[in-house]
Amino acid sequence: MRKPVIAANWKMNGSAELCERFASTMVRPEYADVWLFPSSLHLAKLTELFRGSDVATGAQNVWTDVSGAYTGEISASMVARIHAELALVGHSERRATFGDSDAIVAKKFKIIMEAELIPVLCVGETLEERESEMAHLAVQRQLHAVEAAWDRSVYSHSVIAYEPVWAIGTGKAATAAIAQEMHALIREHVRMQGSGDADALRILYGGSVKPENARELIAESDIDGFLVGGASLDVDDFNRICESVKN
Ligand code: PGA
Repeated sequence: MRKPVIAANWKMNGSAELCERFASTMVRPEYADVWLFPSSLHLAKLTELFRGSDVATGAQNVWTDVSGAYTGEISASMVARIHAELALVGHSERRATFGDSDAIVAKKFKIIMEAELIPVLCVGETLEERESEMAHLAVQRQLHAVEAAWDRSVYSHSVIAYEPVWAIGTGKAATAAIAQEMHALIREHVRMQGSGDADALRILYGGSVKPENARELIAESDIDGFLVGGASLDVDDFNRICESVKN
């Protein structure tokens, strides 16, 4: 039985006040893991506020090196040192806007693993890839890139987030059937690669998750939780999403 994960990706939003509001009013369910990804500016504060609780925090992005002359960047080891436990990698906004190619994503994945953080590897196809029936291939290509860079068991200490690009921030989530099909494909891929325990791997869905659609999505057998963007900025909505994964 895989424990569900509800993760909040605040993107370039949030404030010290939002951190405090989450610390005081966010539900802390026993039946799910709750992970928060604030901006790097707020990561230390939020981590401190949740220190000693079961709620874990993480960075939305890290650079490919441990330290050095990389103005504006943060490293996975810095994230680990402030007791955050996770890092997103390969988010489609990073891939599309900041040039994170498959090769860069693979390097970041590696450095996150080396810092002993848990990577949440985001994969997903564009609308064009879906319409040309290339969705499976696009996701497999993204997975292969990481597998090629990390020869140890890739998926034993990581989580995958399937986030179709066309569903992110559009209000149009994937149907439960499409999401389930893609999650099952990812799990099968991991099984075939033998690169981790496919049955234990948690695969999250992301893309316009809201309190209204969370219950239907989580009912699917291969959907193990959510990576929530927009709706994670409202603590009531986020609480309702957490509530919806309770069975
Ligand atoms: P969204 O974003 O929930 O606003 O669609 C999800 C994500 O980008 O992780």
